[in-house]
Amino acid sequence: MNTLILAIETSCDETSVAILQDRKLLSHVTFSQIAHHQKYRGVMPELASRLHTETITLVLEEALNNAHKKLEEIDAFAVTSGPGLLGALHIGMQFAKTLSFIFNKPLIPVHHLAAHIEAGRFVKPLLYPYLALLVSGGHTELVDVTAPLTYKIIGQTRDDAVGESYDKVARMLDLGYPGGPLIDQLAQQGTPRYTLPSPLKDKGYDFSFSGLKTSVSLLIQKLQKDHILFAKEDIASSFQHVAIQSLIDKTFQAVNHLGYQQLVIGGGVSANSLLRKLALEKGRSFNIDVVIPPLWACTDNAAMIGLLAFTMFEQGLFASLQLKADPQWSIENLHQFQL
Ligand code: KG4
Ligand code: ZN
Repeated sequence: MNTLILAIETSCDETSVAILQDRKLLSHVTFSQIAHHQKYRGVMPELASRLHTETITLVLEEALNNAHKKLEEIDAFAVTSGPGLLGALHIGMQFAKTLSFIFNKPLIPVHHLAAHIEAGRFVKPLLYPYLALLVSGGHTELVDVTAPLTYKIIGQTRDDAVGESYDKVARMLDLGYPGGPLIDQLAQQGTPRYTLPSPLKDKGYDFSFSGLKTSVSLLIQKLQKDHILFAKEDIASSFQHVAIQSLIDKTFQAVNHLGYQQLVIGGGVSANSLLRKLALEKGRSFNIDVVIPPLWACTDNAAMIGLLAFTMFEQGLFASLQLKADPQWSIENLHQFQL
């Protein structure tokens, strides 16, 4: 009781620290690097590592101050140890290992994507078994969650992740980085007037977004070649319509065939306005409880890392100081650090 966990997230372009007491969030400070990466139109891994190094101490200090806690009071240090950018992960991990060593408290290695799913607990309890739709910049997966820390992938993208396709289409439209929120905003002002092919309309649970991305590119090229004026809003809307409908179709196909009562959506793309709207509508019509984290918990944050760390703390799942970051860590292999 009264367990205090300090969680650190540095897997990509957010430096984030959270302090939780018995799963309740006491403080949460995130420094977003987006403005620094914008001129490169994507995340520059070297720059991400350098910025994490420069800001992590300040972020930690502010999180401790806001929670009115001291490092000596923390019971365990949790850190994202994969998947993500190797250099970026290393900064958070080195920091957490040092704190764990100095204060002689357990080190908890947290899986970034499992934590994105766990963020649903900021809304309500998650009831096993449930289906999770994980939609981020690097992953698009349907995950069967049967028990705490037990995940099985039942469908995934065969090529690009959905967030990646948003970022690539945004680049085609010269919108800047990250593309997801920008396309989402534009799409709401346009009409889906262009017909784009729906990906993988088969019975399986796999996704594909690369063909859709290529169709958008060909469409823009054709419109330009024929000197036809077009509104970026309409391209964004047409793309968003097909991409999100494909996520909804596959997900509810799985929910209905496999008989889940609850669907949890997590990852950066779960902030998408159309995905949130359609998933909630469809959930109501099929009587499925759809859980989507609040907007602040959809993108990368340490609060979700801390939440999942509590389950690991309760099970005594701690890592040694030899822990290695794993940029490709699979969600099906959550216990691999103990091998
Ligand atoms: O989970 P996340 O913050 O980082 C990773 O773990 O990858 O996800 C980032 C991804 C980016 O591709 C970004 O464009 C996308 O999430 N994203 C969105 C929206 N907000 C963020 N995609 C579509 N609509 C949004 N509103
Ligand atoms: Zn993420």
